[in-house]
Amino acid sequence: MISEQRIFQAYYTKSEPIVSYMVDLLDLDGTESIFEPCAGDGVFIDPILDKYQNIKIDAFELNENACDTLKSKYQDLENISIKQTDTLTDLDLEFLCSMGGKYDAVIANPPYGAWRNTIDRATLKKRFNGFYAKESYSLFLYRSIESLNEGGKLVFIIPDTYLNLNMHKDIRKYILSNTKIKEIALFPSSYFPGVNFGYANLSIIALEKSSDYKLNLENTFRIIKDYKSVEELGNEKIKHLTKLNIQQKNVLKNDGYIFLTNTNPSVSDCIRQAKTSIGEVCDCATGFYSGNDKDRLKVLSKEIRNSKRYDEVDKEKITYDCSSRPLDGIENEQIYVPIVKGGNVRYYKADNWFMEWSSDIVSFYKKDKKARYQNSSYYFRKGIAVPMVSSSSITGAIIENRLFDQSIVGIFPKKESLIHYFLAFFNSPTCNKLIRTINPSTNNSSNYIKRIPFIQPSIEQEDTITENIKQIIEQVKVSGDYEIELETENNKMIAELYGF
Ligand SMILES: C[S@@+](CC[C@H](N)C(=O)[O-])C[C@H]1O[C@@H](n2cnc3c(N)ncnc32)[C@H](O)[C@@H]1O
Repeated sequence: MISEQRIFQAYYTKSEPIVSYMVDLLDLDGTESIFEPCAGDGVFIDPILDKYQNIKIDAFELNENACDTLKSKYQDLENISIKQTDTLTDLDLEFLCSMGGKYDAVIANPPYGAWRNTIDRATLKKRFNGFYAKESYSLFLYRSIESLNEGGKLVFIIPDTYLNLNMHKDIRKYILSNTKIKEIALFPSSYFPGVNFGYANLSIIALEKSSDYKLNLENTFRIIKDYKSVEELGNEKIKHLTKLNIQQKNVLKNDGYIFLTNTNPSVSDCIRQAKTSIGEVCDCATGFYSGNDKDRLKVLSKEIRNSKRYDEVDKEKITYDCSSRPLDGIENEQIYVPIVKGGNVRYYKADNWFMEWSSDIVSFYKKDKKARYQNSSYYFRKGIAVPMVSSSSITGAIIENRLFDQSIVGIFPKKESLIHYFLAFFNSPTCNKLIRTINPSTNNSSNYIKRIPFIQPSIEQEDTITENIKQIIEQVKVSGDYEIELETENNKMIAELYGF
């Protein structure tokens, strides 16, 4: 059963430093009309009332119980209006927004990743001009900005994924074009009592609605990060905080309007000014899924990590040499082919996993709804396997005459002679800095990989790196390890090429 807390995403802001920092950012004088779109138990309403008893606040809350509690809590206050409603579909609010908004200030901790069924999502997407509706916080943000009058202020606490993820491209453009951002504070989600997403950090964004597009482009805002504790929020004087001043028009110039928050300006500049990207010099594709790995995927031996659920492969039935690229499956008895799976291993992965690949089963994969026989033109080709998720640094391993699964982004250089260079690149700290600036989460999906800038190495650099990589691969094949000096030399050359 899904708990009420999960359904309503009712994680209340029980942190005094967060609440007071957010209220201070609104810079109220007591004359404002305020909107709280997901009021919970009123954590933001109380401190505002403490300062300005007569200030006008409209509070929305979907959960009936929470709403009843709010109503009785504020029953004696005429200036506080409580409405039980869904903020995202409330018709009065929608109307008010279509008329240009009326509030002077909005403050909220909206639900993140709120649970909604798919019909709901489709309706929402329509209602919000095609904005991505799976993650509802961006819809709360959009609706709340709309509800402000010209010059009205907004402060939200939300995950930081809207700054970089592809799916939030539209909301980025909307914010950059229709508001003046004041500041964005970035900090770990563990500062928020009871919540730790792991996948993302939290952010507090403060902005002002503005219809003057030209002025908005010229506006400079601050990104503040590297906090050491929650108490440091809002404390301007702390020396170790990183403060980046960024102009909105520069963010709008970035591919996908992403906010580049890397402190090293040469990394951000390199991404912004890149003439060529990985997507132009390599094909990037996600791999195969059988639809039922438990039955179709086999492991070489039970000693392999995470192999508990899988049966051992019959070694007599393996086709190791797939250079004939059997895209329609194998006719003879050797029906298992090597497959590269996720897991961060550098340079070369031993053949530990095998996929059932008889011609009958391959025709089944092609039709089955659960299976993904996708991007097959890349199967069994020479390329680089980059796991979709990297725990610490991005890694790459060579794929040759093998299948690769859907947890892998296969990278296939258009110029095959560059394959060893790219293998060094995808294991280098330089590449890691680039991808983590493009997308700070641990996700390396092909959309992000494609955006990494490509700088052509000189012939000498290419030759030295290629030789080093060939040696590394040979050493790994024989002993499972490699001489670190070879890698260090490669990394140094790549760092020189990119300037970091
Ligand atoms: C993350 S909690 C935050 C509550 C409070 N503002 C705070 O910071 O403690 C989100 C609140 O939004 C409410 N909520 C969820 N979906 C909503 C919706 N569609 N419309 C209005 N409120 C909603 C939940 O019931 C919950 O109380």
